[in-house]
Amino acid sequence: MDMASSRHVLLRLLVSALVLALFVLPAQADVKRYQFDIVMSNVSRLCHEKTMVTVNGSYPGPTIYAREGDRVIVNVTNHVKYNMTIHWHGLKQRRNGWADGPAYVTQCPIQSGASYAYDFNVTGQRGTLWWHAHIAWLRATVHGAIVILPDRGVPYPFPKPDAEAEIILGEWWHADVEAVEKQGRTLGMAPNTSDAHTINGKPGPLSPCSEKHTYALQVQWGKTYLLRIINAAVNDELFFSIAGHTMMVVEIDATYTKPFVSSTIQLSPGQTTNVLVRADQRPGRYFMAVKPFNDVQVPVDNKTATAILQYAGVPTSVIPALPQLMPATNSTGYVTAFHDRLRSLNSARYPADVPRTVDRHLLYTIGLNIDPCETCLNGSRLAASLNNITFVMPRVALLQAHYGGARGVFTADFPDRPPARFNYTGVPLTAGLGTSLGTRLSKIAYNSTVELVLQDTNLLSVESHPFHLHGHNFFVVGRGVGNFDPSKDPAKYNLVDPPERNTVGVPAGGWTAIRFRADNPGVWFLHCHLEVHTSWGLKMAFLMEDGNGPGESVLPPPKDLPKC
Ligand SMILES: *[C@@H]1O[C@H](CO)[C@@H](O)[C@H](O)[C@H]1NC(C)=O
Ligand SMILES: *[C@@H]1O[C@H](CO)[C@@H](O)[C@H](O)[C@H]1NC(C)=O
Ligand SMILES: *[C@@H]1O[C@H](CO)[C@@H](O)[C@H](O)[C@H]1NC(C)=O
Ligand SMILES: *[C@@H]1O[C@H](CO)[C@@H](O)[C@H](O)[C@H]1NC(C)=O
Ligand SMILES: *[C@@H]1O[C@H](CO)[C@@H](O)[C@H](O)[C@H]1NC(C)=O
Ligand SMILES: *[C@@H]1O[C@H](CO)[C@@H](O)[C@H](O)[C@H]1NC(C)=O
Ligand SMILES: *[C@@H]1O[C@H](CO)[C@@H](O)[C@H](O)[C@H]1NC(C)=O
Ligand SMILES: *[C@@H]1O[C@H](CO)[C@@H](O)[C@H](O)[C@H]1NC(C)=O
Ligand SMILES: *[C@@H]1O[C@H](CO)[C@@H](O)[C@H](O)[C@H]1NC(C)=O
Ligand SMILES: *[C@@H]1O[C@H](CO)[C@@H](O)[C@H](O)[C@H]1NC(C)=O
Ligand SMILES: *[C@@H]1O[C@H](CO)[C@@H](O)[C@H](O)[C@H]1NC(C)=O
Ligand SMILES: *[C@@H]1O[C@H](CO)[C@@H](O)[C@H](O)[C@H]1NC(C)=O
Repeated sequence: MDMASSRHVLLRLLVSALVLALFVLPAQADVKRYQFDIVMSNVSRLCHEKTMVTVNGSYPGPTIYAREGDRVIVNVTNHVKYNMTIHWHGLKQRRNGWADGPAYVTQCPIQSGASYAYDFNVTGQRGTLWWHAHIAWLRATVHGAIVILPDRGVPYPFPKPDAEAEIILGEWWHADVEAVEKQGRTLGMAPNTSDAHTINGKPGPLSPCSEKHTYALQVQWGKTYLLRIINAAVNDELFFSIAGHTMMVVEIDATYTKPFVSSTIQLSPGQTTNVLVRADQRPGRYFMAVKPFNDVQVPVDNKTATAILQYAGVPTSVIPALPQLMPATNSTGYVTAFHDRLRSLNSARYPADVPRTVDRHLLYTIGLNIDPCETCLNGSRLAASLNNITFVMPRVALLQAHYGGARGVFTADFPDRPPARFNYTGVPLTAGLGTSLGTRLSKIAYNSTVELVLQDTNLLSVESHPFHLHGHNFFVVGRGVGNFDPSKDPAKYNLVDPPERNTVGVPAGGWTAIRFRADNPGVWFLHCHLEVHTSWGLKMAFLMEDGNGPGESVLPPPKDLPKC
C-alpha cells in the first residue's frame, strides 16, 4: 500500500468512527447549568404588596429544562438573611443524597452569603417534576417547575402535543409566611390559612386588584396542548378544572399512565399531573379553576383561583364562565374515584416493575396529637407523629452524620409497627394524645423490597395526608377506608399496573399501601407534604444501607457541601 491509499483508508476509518459516534453510540449527555440567586423581592397581589424570598425575583421561580440523561448543575447563591436549601422533588438522586436538599436531612443549610452547586444526573426519568425550598416554610414562595424531556429521538407514548405549558398551583399569604409559621409554633395552635390560591403565581380575576395578576394560556382552535400541572401549595389539596373542556391524564409524578379523560383532576401538594387538552370548543375565553379539596372539619382557604384559556382572536372583553361541574370541596367520593383510575402505562418500554415479594413489612400510624408546651397559649401545642414518634430535627445533617460515622445524632431504631394497637380509625380518642420525641431512623438493607402501609388514625381527628418519599418512586398497590386488615386487604392489591409516584394521598380515616425497592443508598426523608404537619413532626427518615458491589454505595460528598 502506498502512502496515499493508506491515508485514504485511515480517513475512511476516521469517517466511519465519526459516523458511528454520531449515530450509533448514545448521544453525549448535555450539562445544563443554572444560577439561582436567592433574593428578597417586592411582589404585589390582591391589593397587598410584600417583600418575600424568591429565586431571581420571579414567582414562581425559573423552570429547569433538562433531557433524560443530562447532568444538571444549579448553583444556588443565598443573598438573604434566611438559611436556604433547594429540593429537586421527585429526582431519584441515585447514591447522590448530597443533591437532594432537605435541611438537616441531607445537608446543612446554605447560609447567608454562601453558595452551593447542586450537581445531579437525570437518569431513567422523564416528565414533570418541580423544585422548592426545603427549609421552614420558604417553599411557599421559592419553587418552580422541572421539565425533563424524553431522550433524543424518543417520542411521548401519546399523541404529540402542538405546544406545552407549565401550570403551577400555589398559595398566597398577605403576611410573611415565616411569621405565619412562627405565630402558630409560638402559640401551639394551627397557623393562619392562606389568603388566596394562585395559578402560575396569580389569583385571577375573581380576586381584587387582579388586573395584572391573571394568567392566560393562548390557544389556537384545533390544536392540542400538554399542560404540566404542579401542586406547589403549602397546605392545600386541590381540584383543577377547565370550563367546557376535558383533560386526558397521561402522566403523574414523571411516570406515564394509561390515558383517561377527566373533567376535574385532583392533586395534593407535591404531586404533578400532565394532561392533554384539545382546543376544540367554540372559540372563546374559558376559566381554568383551582379550589381546595377538604373533607374534614379543619379550617382551609376555600377561595377559588382562576386563569384563562384564551382562544386566538377572541377579544379579552368576553367574560369567561366558571367550570360547571367542579366537585364540592368535601367530595371524598370524587377523589377516590379519580385515584382509582390511575394506572401505570406498563408498556414494554415503560414496564411497571412492582416488587411482588416483600422483604420488609412496615406499618406506620399517622397521628395528630397534643403535647405539653409550657410557653404555649394553652400550655399545650399541636403535634403530629408517625408510630407515635414526633420527629425532632437534628442540628447537623443526618446524611453527613451517617457518612462520616458521627455518633449521637440519631438512632436507627424507628419501629416497624405502632407501639400500641388500637381501633385506629374508630371513635375519637381522648386519652393517649401525647407523643414521644426522637430523631429515629429506620435502617433498610440494600436492594430489599419494602411494603409500607400508612394508616391514618382518629387520635385528634382523621385527615388526609399526602406522603412524599425522597430518593425513590414507589408503587401505590392499595388503599382503603378504615383500618388496614393484613389478612384481607393484600388480596385486593394491584401488583400489575399500580400508579408509580413519589407523593401519595392517605385518605382521611383510611390507609394506603406502597411498595418500593431500597436500591438507593443514603438517608431519605419520608414526610407529609402538608407543611403545617411537617412542622408538627409528621416525618421520619430511612437509612438505606450501602450494598457490597461497586456502584452500590453513597458517593463521596461534594467539596462545596455546606457545613453547619
Ligand atoms: C438569575 O440571575 C443571575 C444574575 O442576574 C443570572 O446570571 C442567571 O442566569 C439567572 N438565572 C435564571 C435561571 O434565570
Ligand atoms: C421593596 O419595598 C421596600 C418598601 O417599600 C423598599 O424599601 C425596598 O427598597 C424595595 N425593595 C426592592 C428590592 O425593590
Ligand atoms: C456559584 O456562585 C458563586 C457566587 O457567584 C461563585 O462564587 C461560585 O464559584 C459558583 N459555583 C459554581 C460551581 O459555579
Ligand atoms: C453523573 O454521570 C457522570 C457520567 O456517567 C458521572 O461521571 C458522574 O459521577 C455522575 N454524577 C453523579 C452525581 O451521579
Ligand atoms: C393571623 O390571623 C389573625 C386573625 O386574622 C391576625 O390577627 C394575625 O395577625 C395573623 N397572623 C399573622 C402572622 O399574620
Ligand atoms: C369559605 O369560608 C368562609 C369562612 O370560613 C365562609 O364564610 C364562606 O362561606 C366559605 N365560602 C365557600 C365558598 O365555601
Ligand atoms: C359536603 O358539604 C355540604 C355543604 O357544603 C353538605 O351539605 C354535605 O353534607 C357535605 N357532605 C359530606 C359527605 O360531608
Ligand atoms: C386552647 O384553648 C381554647 C380556649 O379554651 C380552646 O378553644 C382551644 O381549642 C384550645 N386549643 C388547643 C390547641 O388546645
Ligand atoms: C372501630 O371503630 C369503628 C367506628 O367507631 C367501629 O365501627 C368498629 O366496629 C370498630 N372496630 C373494632 C375492631 O372495634
Ligand atoms: C404515645 O406516647 C405517649 C408518650 O409515651 C403516650 O402517653 C401515649 O399513650 C402514646 N400513644 C399511643 C397512641 O401510642
Ligand atoms: C436486587 O434484587 C433483585 C431481585 O432479588 C435482583 O434481581 C437484582 O439483581 C438485585 N440487584 C442488585 C444490584 O443487587
Ligand atoms: C443557619 O444555619 C446554621 C447552620 O445550621 C445555624 O447555625 C444558624 O443558626 C442558622 N441561622 C438561622 C437564621 O436560622
